[in-house]
Amino acid sequence: MDKLIIQGGIKLQGEIRISGAKNAALPILAATLLADGVMTISNMPHLHDITTTMELLGRMGCELTVGEKMVIQVDSRVIREFFAPYDLVRTMRASILVLGPLLTRFGRADVSLPGGCAIGSRPVNLHLEGLAAMGANLQVEGGYIRAVANRLKGCDLVMDLVTVTGTENLMMAATMAKGVTVIRNAAREPEVVDLANCLIKMGAKIEGAGTDTIRIEGVDGLTGTEYEILPDRIETGTYLVAAAMTRGHIKLKNTQPALLEAVLAKLHDSGAELTTTESTIEIKMNKERLRAVSIHTSPYPGFPTDMQAQFTALNCIAEGTGTITESVFENRFMHVQELQRMGAQIKIEGNTAITSGVSKLKSAPLMATDLRASASLVLAGLVAEGATEVNRIYHIDRGYETIEEKLSNLGAQIRRVPG
Ligand code: EPU
Repeated sequence: MDKLIIQGGIKLQGEIRISGAKNAALPILAATLLADGVMTISNMPHLHDITTTMELLGRMGCELTVGEKMVIQVDSRVIREFFAPYDLVRTMRASILVLGPLLTRFGRADVSLPGGCAIGSRPVNLHLEGLAAMGANLQVEGGYIRAVANRLKGCDLVMDLVTVTGTENLMMAATMAKGVTVIRNAAREPEVVDLANCLIKMGAKIEGAGTDTIRIEGVDGLTGTEYEILPDRIETGTYLVAAAMTRGHIKLKNTQPALLEAVLAKLHDSGAELTTTESTIEIKMNKERLRAVSIHTSPYPGFPTDMQAQFTALNCIAEGTGTITESVFENRFMHVQELQRMGAQIKIEGNTAITSGVSKLKSAPLMATDLRASASLVLAGLVAEGATEVNRIYHIDRGYETIEEKLSNLGAQIRRVPG
């Protein structure tokens, strides 16, 4: 298994380009199952999760081509199977996103039930309850969701809690259902909006994406189209934190600052200077020491849970006490133990991590446990005294395109060592 070796203590400087958003690309790849024609998707990030989704579509019989700059074409007209096997779903929970499209277009789907994962139990009950309310017949047996439906029927769905992929799955299912579906308490994440925009380009009738009430009027069919994935706000935020922690000065291109207001506000509170245009963000940290910040994660437009671990790392070296409360997932503090091994002072009380900033972290061999936790360990490595070794970095490859190359371009001393 590959590992990363990071020599800490270098201020990041320079410019890099932000990749397409993983969490928009995954549902949009699933949405290709709805198209009666070829879908051409650009700004696709080159990530492990994307390759897994492509393998999943390929195993179903879809024809896929990968062009220059990761422009991906998918033709789902030649699909043979409506099956998402355990060996793929197990490695990527987002595979559940094929359930809604398969069911609404082909009337059947066999999808492995995703198991728990490092950050929490992550059930999919709301996906299933929504599809059942639309008339699907769902059985869970042998670890698989076996679903059949004649044409799904539009209905009024009130979501018990805000779920991103749940909203996406049901929105996709509703595009070809008979009649009108209303999803209330819908997720407002920018990736939900990006998926809706792509579906609208394919011919779907969707209103209200980006608000908590999405109205979808079912149509008889959707067509192939071209679509460009929006920039990754979490990748953007991660590099901004890296710059702030190393007291550097970097510029990120091809991003959208408007998607990161909660994150930019906390960076500002920590003492960083930010300058934005519509598609760039420049960050400078001139002060001697960052200030610790307090954070409470919540669904968009609140502070994203996917940026929590990175800010925990920031707080570890900042002046003062910071509190980080995780309210979306029940077990998303796996990075804390590793950061403590580097000398961080962190106390966990319930779902809150209380940090007392130290002036220096010290390098140590570390173990990555999930995607964003791994990112926080890389950030800690960038400022630690000595050479930090981050093991099991396949987690990072799921969500950060060529992280060592991008950080090297910003001057970091980081290298991948094959294991
Ligand atoms: N939940 C239920 N029942 C459901 C669905 C969700 O109880 O049927 C609970 C979850 O257990 C969790 C909360 O609702 O406590 C919110 O989970 P959500 O469904 O919104 O998460 P998700 O859709 O599985 C997506 C992202 C995650 C991101 C979360 C929250 C994708 C592919 N994944 O997951 O991204 O953390 O939304 O914003 O979009 C990551 O990129 O590192 C990542 C984990």
